[in-house]
Amino acid sequence: MRHLNENLNVYSPQTAIGLLVAHDKLWTSQVLSAANVRTPLTVFAVRSNHVAFAIEKAGGLPVVAKQLTGSQGAGVSILETPLAANTTLESFHKANIPMKLQRFVKARNSNSGSPTDIRAIVVGDEVVSAMERTASQGDFRANLSKGGYGRTIDLSSDETSMCIKATKAVGLEFAGVDLIREKMGHTYVTEVNGNPGTGIIDITKKNHFIDLVKYIETKSKKNEKVLTSLPDNDDKQQENKEEAPIGKYRELLTKESEAKLNYNEIGVLTFFKKKYSKKYSKRREIF
Ligand SMILES: Nc1ncnc2c1ncn2[C@@H]1O[C@H](COP(=O)(O)OP(=O)(O)O)[C@@H](O)[C@H]1O
Ligand SMILES: [Mg+2]
Repeated sequence: MRHLNENLNVYSPQTAIGLLVAHDKLWTSQVLSAANVRTPLTVFAVRSNHVAFAIEKAGGLPVVAKQLTGSQGAGVSILETPLAANTTLESFHKANIPMKLQRFVKARNSNSGSPTDIRAIVVGDEVVSAMERTASQGDFRANLSKGGYGRTIDLSSDETSMCIKATKAVGLEFAGVDLIREKMGHTYVTEVNGNPGTGIIDITKKNHFIDLVKYIETKSKKNEKVLTSLPDNDDKQQENKEEAPIGKYRELLTKESEAKLNYNEIGVLTFFKKKYSKKYSKRREIF
């Protein structure tokens, strides 16, 4: 992706940094929190020396322990007793597998009494499809690949905005966002998937790849016009004469000049600068 975006200037709704952030569950939590997207309280401990302290910080038992990378529910565990928590975290730390602890969000149950979560597909500024997943009997993970089943649902307008905001915050324009509706409370974003599974298409009968291709066509046409005309960051005069390029890039440059960038935005801006500054805009053939 870095090669396509930065060297060949090929447009993609996914950025290299966006995929890196989405791939790392701790980084995703940090970025979502910094962007004010509601995400379950998360604690990270490098060693297992103070398990009880870390668990208390994450809201007490039961607590969810997640490996920082992984998908389809693999690497996501629930720790229900102090002994299970101590021994499990000790084993993972001993094996040098970093884990994050996350507050267990008691999800709304389906009619069958099992916990549910939501997968929503975001393309640009829209949620194009969404399903509620119900965990299989006895599990708390609602992933379809773990035997969960899905049904089409509508999101509230708040939930829709959360999904779009979460996707943008990690630096993506296409993503599968996971949400949990708390039994008595709010909706939380638990993760953003940069390469979401296609199981949702069979359930909602909505092929989001059609929306995605249309979106890419529109964006890449727009981008063809702006790529060569994008100014260097320090070339302010020329910049003023240019037609507005990519909105987000401009917005970040303004924020930078006002020293208002957050942690995630600094990363995204660095990437944009590399991608769009004149120095990089010529194609460099390296193969
Ligand atoms: N904090 C949480 N509280 C309760 N259930 C959770 C929590 N986080 C995840 N889950 C459940 O576990 C499943 C897998 O977690 P997720 O973070 O999406 O990892 P994966 O990348 O493996 O899908 C979710 O779909 C949800 O059903
Ligand atoms: Mg998930």
